[in-house]
Amino acid sequence: MIILKSRTEIEEMRKAGGIVAAFHRSIAGMIRPGVTTLDIESFAVRFLKENKAKAYTVGYNGYPFATCASVNDVIAHGFPNDKPLQDGDIVTIDIVAQADGWVGDSAWTYTVGEVSEEAHKLMRVTKESLYLGIEKAIVGNRIGDVMHAVQSHAEQNGFSVVRDLLGHGVGREMHEEPNYPHMGIPGKGFRLKEGMVLTIEPMLNAGKATMTIDEDGWTARTEDGSLSAQYEHTIAITADGPIILTEQ
Ligand code: CO
Repeated sequence: MIILKSRTEIEEMRKAGGIVAAFHRSIAGMIRPGVTTLDIESFAVRFLKENKAKAYTVGYNGYPFATCASVNDVIAHGFPNDKPLQDGDIVTIDIVAQADGWVGDSAWTYTVGEVSEEAHKLMRVTKESLYLGIEKAIVGNRIGDVMHAVQSHAEQNGFSVVRDLLGHGVGREMHEEPNYPHMGIPGKGFRLKEGMVLTIEPMLNAGKATMTIDEDGWTARTEDGSLSAQYEHTIAITADGPIILTEQ
């Protein structure tokens, strides 16, 4: 069942979204060679506590951290670790906060020092795909309209879209119905209704779309070792158009 949110509830959800956005603004200047993803994790734990927000992912299906830190060929759900980030890396930081009972979910890919042309292009196209999808997230459109915009931009630029990890409804919990891949056919799939709150979170690979999961049971990597990037926002569908609850 898809839980629709009232105007008031969407307003209440701005708090968690704002905390997640402020977190991303704060770490943007902190990520450079030598910093570890555990440093970012520690900052996240402190930041959420200071903002009276819950680190939603800690203990979620046994996930041990407040952030996911996914470096280079890691697509998503990487564990923060004590290995210093290196010049030329890209790292996706994903965070989910719960504040006043509502959840905000946003991931962003960051450069570490100077990165390759290919990495820059992958990041740019992934972010553009997210925003092209958001433009289509209007009442009366279908999810296929949104995800076709995401997928076609990715593929026209020579990148592949990860199929195995899904976007989702967001509300009092991180994962609500519906679930959907970041690919689609215009006019197909569920219709977008006023009051839906959804993530759009494309993961694009420089090579093939296929992925593997590490021994830890979480870390998702590209099967071919190619780079992967992800940008994710939590979006409210309203009569006045999409509201990006996690806009930085
Ligand atoms: Co998400």
